Amino acid sequence: MKVLNIGSMNLDHVYSVDHIVQPGETEATGEMNIFLGGKGMNQSVALAKAGVEVYQGGMIGDDGQPFLDACREYGVHADYIRQIDTKTGHAIIQIDKNAQNCILLYGGANQKLTEAYVDEVLGHFAADDILLLQNEVNLLPYIVDKAYELGMQIALNPSPFNEKLEQVDMSKISIFLLNEVEGGQITGLTEPEEIIAKIQELYPHAKIVLTLGKDGAVYADETQKHYQPIFKVKAVDTTAAGDTFTGYFLAGLAEGMPIPDVLRMSAKASSIAVSREGAVPSIPYRAEVMESLAKD
Ligand code: RIB
Repeated sequence: MKVLNIGSMNLDHVYSVDHIVQPGETEATGEMNIFLGGKGMNQSVALAKAGVEVYQGGMIGDDGQPFLDACREYGVHADYIRQIDTKTGHAIIQIDKNAQNCILLYGGANQKLTEAYVDEVLGHFAADDILLLQNEVNLLPYIVDKAYELGMQIALNPSPFNEKLEQVDMSKISIFLLNEVEGGQITGLTEPEEIIAKIQELYPHAKIVLTLGKDGAVYADETQKHYQPIFKVKAVDTTAAGDTFTGYFLAGLAEGMPIPDVLRMSAKASSIAVSREGAVPSIPYRAEVMESLAKD
């Protein structure tokens, strides 16, 4: 079993600010750092650091070499990443003094996928494999349809939520990994229990992971439901906390670990990520996660 992640790669320009800038306001920032990020890249790195064989797909521009270097460093297969004549995607991220963030996204190369490219990449995968997707690349409906025809299991993190997701045939998704805001946007509901019940009503065979920020996470499928609280830490930067949870969750699921153990491992990995700066560099290795869990 292999995981293919056709997802975004962004250069994250991260600014520390006192507060998230308001409309019409100009605010001087503190430190500025450029980190590797993008939900696709973050989730692939989390999967690889958790010990899974993961292939990152997607597009980068002329300035995208650092992503290829990082794949090599972290053990993510980069064979299906294409470098094209445009700019790599980037994000402008403000982190306030409470470690909350807001993100402006420029798609760049992430929005240049073609059907021919998708067909070529999917041609290397088969029914046993998992396809992981987020909503930061173009052609999501096409990718879902083609992967479903192949019989792949499709895991979708519908983030960021926007109208493009309406074109995706959600009945083809096996695993939804989403936060309560996205859950609310998809179902029109606010209470976690109601969100889960609605997704189960719409897609009864799907596995659902709903993260609830400081209130933890819930997993539900046809036969079981489990709740996992967070591990409390001093938050420095919450960017990629959800991506770390997603990568670790899929890793545990793919290994066949019991769900409560998968949730615990994912929550711990995510808590370590929020205690560090940046997206990709904040994601812990499995050994560190397990060592920290053993002390709790
Ligand atoms: O989920 C965090 C990521 O969202 C950041 O790394 C940024 O690039 C945006 O894609």
